[in-house]
Amino acid sequence: MSGFKGRDFLTVNDFSRAELFEILNFAQELKAGPAAGSRLLAGKTLGMIFQKSSTRTRVSFEVGMYQLGGTALFLSAKDLQIGRGEPVKDTARVLSRYLDGIMIRTFEHGEVEELAAYATIPVINGLTDLLHPCQAMADMLTILEKKGRLQGLKLAYVGDGNNVANSLLLACSILGLDIAVGCPKGYEPDGEVLASACAHAKANGTEVLVTEDPVAAVAGADVLYTDVWASMGQEEEHAARVRIFSPYQLNSELAGHAKADAIVMHCLPAHRGEEITEELLEGPRSVVFEQAENRLHVQKAIMAKIM
Ligand code: CP
Ligand code: NVA
Repeated sequence: MSGFKGRDFLTVNDFSRAELFEILNFAQELKAGPAAGSRLLAGKTLGMIFQKSSTRTRVSFEVGMYQLGGTALFLSAKDLQIGRGEPVKDTARVLSRYLDGIMIRTFEHGEVEELAAYATIPVINGLTDLLHPCQAMADMLTILEKKGRLQGLKLAYVGDGNNVANSLLLACSILGLDIAVGCPKGYEPDGEVLASACAHAKANGTEVLVTEDPVAAVAGADVLYTDVWASMGQEEEHAARVRIFSPYQLNSELAGHAKADAIVMHCLPAHRGEEITEELLEGPRSVVFEQAENRLHVQKAIMAKIM
């Protein structure tokens, strides 16, 4: 595991296709074994800084550390001195003296990069306004399990070109899936992320499509994906976004344009009746709870490799 030790996990873009597959394969191995059967991180401590709410990320990282023989500390930004203005660069160096790894969920992606630059221990991105790489890895594991492969598949994401969409663009284009994003004008994925995904796709002979037409996005897809229309921090825009995004709702009519065996994905939490209908979320093609479970397995693999 020497190639991974000490590295940060801020974006899937920092890892090669071979490395991402190595993480996915290791996650499958850990998933197949006894939950608490490995002591790979015995005696190690992960600090988990949260500036935003979380159910899955918090619990899966904490349980994952426990199952690997280590300990996790929940550090609410409200209670840390960082919440009172202590600089990120000081926090990074102080925490590096106590901990073996830091997971952080915050707003500005640059804050995570600064934390990682000053920390002498691995930093894991647990979601920023820009990216959600652990989610994308859990999603790739779920697709691999359900479809038996990644290469040659098409993932269609409809809705807001947000952190989840950005990380899916990178993960798909590196791992060999075609990806189409259907979103309204002005809500496209991040420009730099898109350029990077297009470069990966070109090198891999796959496709990246961003379109305002949701039907064109989902046409022939093997995987249908959506996420909330108003992310954490955008609560005030909620009503306006519901109006703008309504043509992009993932419902049975839209899903009818995908392959008959297309699976339905959502990172959760979901807003039924907004970005996805109850029928699709609870339907036989939905794999949303497998996705949630896979956060645990894939993050255990990431932590065991880099910490
Ligand atoms: N999908 C996800 O990251 O969920 P939480 O916000 O509950 O952590
Ligand atoms: N895009 C959502 C994902 C939540 C897991 C948000 O940032 O709120």
